[in-house]
Amino acid sequence: MALASAGVALRGTGVGANMPYDAKKYGPDVELNEPAFIHSSVQIYGKVRVGREASIWPNTVIRAENYEIVIGEMTNIQDLVMVHVGDRTGTYVGANCSITHHVTIHGCRIGDNCLIGINATLMDNSEIGDNCIVGAGAVLTAGTIIPDNSIIVGAPAKAIKTRNNYVANRWNAWLYQINAHAYREGNHRGWDGADFVRQAKDKMKELMAEFDALKKAGAAIAREE
Ligand SMILES: CC(C)(COP(=O)(O)OP(=O)(O)OC[C@H]1O[C@@H](n2cnc3c(N)ncnc32)[C@H](O)[C@@H]1OP(=O)(O)O)[C@@H](O)C(=O)NCCC(=O)NCCS
Repeated sequence: MALASAGVALRGTGVGANMPYDAKKYGPDVELNEPAFIHSSVQIYGKVRVGREASIWPNTVIRAENYEIVIGEMTNIQDLVMVHVGDRTGTYVGANCSITHHVTIHGCRIGDNCLIGINATLMDNSEIGDNCIVGAGAVLTAGTIIPDNSIIVGAPAKAIKTRNNYVANRWNAWLYQINAHAYREGNHRGWDGADFVRQAKDKMKELMAEFDALKKAGAAIAREE
């Protein structure tokens, strides 16, 4: 089933029954570095780079008429997201992020391992550190700077907690990687069944062990504060 191939085995850049996207439909400035899946309804224009194993879900629009947009490895851009460049800046999304349903990101920078909650808006020059969660419906006004490991909510958004969300956010990104591989195989039930539950538990354990090891090694990404 799809899960068995959710690692790196399945790759493809062409068009066909099981292919993850139609590379030919995008313009010459769109660079696709083996993303896992791009839904056929996605629109991408201008200078846009999409990282390895990333996924882009139905009805997302990504436009970069100047500057650039970069989507990191393993990151998922969920349904109905709008990604645009800002007035003076590009838009950069780190690795292992989830940009969830109906988010708007505009000329901002998002670190690694972040989750941007449903319907949030990030305006020009806003910056979010690593391992953060932006609450559903939050609005980051222009120039808002959010440090690593923050949870922010509201409009205008403010930090309410400091917590390192490395494990939860990477787990969510993994779920979408699994789903991306399922979809490219025409399987829309990738999160169902005993196999999936077992793999999800194993993945969570693996991530917790990885995080502990990073903490022990004193890695900056695993700081708790
Ligand atoms: C922000 C968030 C991470 C907080 O979760 P948490 O750490 O468990 O915190 P709590 O639920 O204890 O909430 C803490 C406070 O923030 C408030 N709060 C929580 N989410 C909020 C939101 N989105 N907007 C405004 N306030 C919010 C709570 O009401 C609570 O307020 P109180 O202290 O006055 O009672 C979570 O509510 C959230 O929005 N997650 C994103 C969900 C999402 O969009 N997922 C994507 C699915 S595809």
